[in-house]
Amino acid sequence: MDEEKIWSEIGPDGFERITAAFYQGVRRDSLLGPMYPADDWEGAEHRLALFLKFRFGQDQTYLEERGHPRLRMRHMPFQIGEAERDRWLDLMASALESENVAPDTREAMMTFFSGVADFMRNR
Ligand code: HEM
Repeated sequence: MDEEKIWSEIGPDGFERITAAFYQGVRRDSLLGPMYPADDWEGAEHRLALFLKFRFGQDQTYLEERGHPRLRMRHMPFQIGEAERDRWLDLMASALESENVAPDTREAMMTFFSGVADFMRNR
């Protein structure tokens, strides 16, 4: 995956817009919505946006605020099976599309997300 190309195309503001679009979908989603902290949607959005800016743009703020990502461990409290994995990926694909991310960039990002989402499965 060419992180530099992705970062130069999307940039920090783009990652924030993508995350906002993604969470709009998550909030309305009957499968995933109830898993998230109802009193901290803003915080959840902030954490994902920071993680993406760290992963694709080497912005160190995520590490400073949250430490090492340890994503699999952090997802253990949530029951994640195939249905949850697929829904997360569908909502992210829609967010990338709604923000007009170029098809080849979208494909590269979805390959990354698919790997991570599958790794999050814990049942
Ligand atoms: C946090 C669900 C996949 C990245 C969370 C949270 C939930 C959740 C409920 C807690 C929200 C919060 O308070 O921050 C899921 C489900 C997934 C999934 C159901 C389906 C497979 C992914 C993937 C990524 C990701 C693929 C990254 C590519 C994150 C990050 C956090 C988070 C960065 C915040 C971690 C922290 O710093 O505490 N996820 N997630 N998640 N998720 Fe996921």
